[in-house]
Amino acid sequence: MTTDQPPVHSGAGTPGSARPLPFDTSVAHQARMYDYLLGGKDNYAADRAAVEAGLKFFPDMEFTARANRAFLGRAVRYLAAEAGIRQFLDIGTGIPTAGNTHQVAQAIAPEARVVYVDYDPVVLAHARALLTSSEEGATDYIDADLRDTGTILAQASQLLDFTRPVAVTMLAILHAIPDSDDPYAIVAKVMDAVPPGSYLAISHAGYELLDPEAQRNLLGTWSGKVEQQLIYRTREQVARFFDGTELVEPGIVRVEEWRPDPGSPPGRSAGWCALGRKR
Ligand SMILES: C[S@@+](CC[C@H](N)C(=O)[O-])C[C@H]1O[C@@H](n2cnc3c(N)ncnc32)[C@H](O)[C@@H]1O
Repeated sequence: MTTDQPPVHSGAGTPGSARPLPFDTSVAHQARMYDYLLGGKDNYAADRAAVEAGLKFFPDMEFTARANRAFLGRAVRYLAAEAGIRQFLDIGTGIPTAGNTHQVAQAIAPEARVVYVDYDPVVLAHARALLTSSEEGATDYIDADLRDTGTILAQASQLLDFTRPVAVTMLAILHAIPDSDDPYAIVAKVMDAVPPGSYLAISHAGYELLDPEAQRNLLGTWSGKVEQQLIYRTREQVARFFDGTELVEPGIVRVEEWRPDPGSPPGRSAGWCALGRKR
């Protein structure tokens, strides 16, 4: 394991202005690879091949995906049950699976409102499953690129009241945004739109959590097989996203270490996560 800074990758990520993600089954997509890792059926041969190739040098990839999904459940539960949050903006929704944000939040607070955002056409095709809200609450789905913060905030404000606290969740998405698209400015713009007392939850691929061979492979040949190449960031780089917030205990930790439930499966992920409360 090394704590060196990640190398700058000229081809990393999918830089550029916000754009619709093409529906192309010949190239692996993050949403469909994640679906495969979680045991879902909404994935294609290219997604499965990229995952199988990755598992050879990064066998903890499956544990990382499952632990990330479990973090989503615990963070949303904390936000609804302990922090009293009733509004959620879930950016980078993923293909619906067990324990989607509105289901977790509305099990605690049926009146919770959730706006989902993703730019993958496969997620859009399944968005109906996300619109099955409780009667007291509401959900909405925005087909948009995270980099298009203007569209996201304008559309989300139709369901969410931005004068009251909102939990913004960006789980396993920011590593698809390269530095050249300034992910720090994107997060800051979204957090500027919500009042103090709002929350920011992030999980992110962690560079120094990989061993050197996995670092070489994930940043090298493997990344060319995936539409949105992963940018692994260090703990320090992930911490910068939380500027202007106070971190909820235990701070920035691996996803499986954030307030684990008793009896959680053992394992070691390569993902950092944290929850911060806007000052
Ligand atoms: C690995 S999945 C994570 C799903 C969910 N947040 C979770 O943690 O369980 C990442 C999702 O982010 C979406 N995504 C990646 N880059 C995006 C972008 N620039 N704009 C909108 N969505 C994006 C992908 O399409 C995918 O559905």
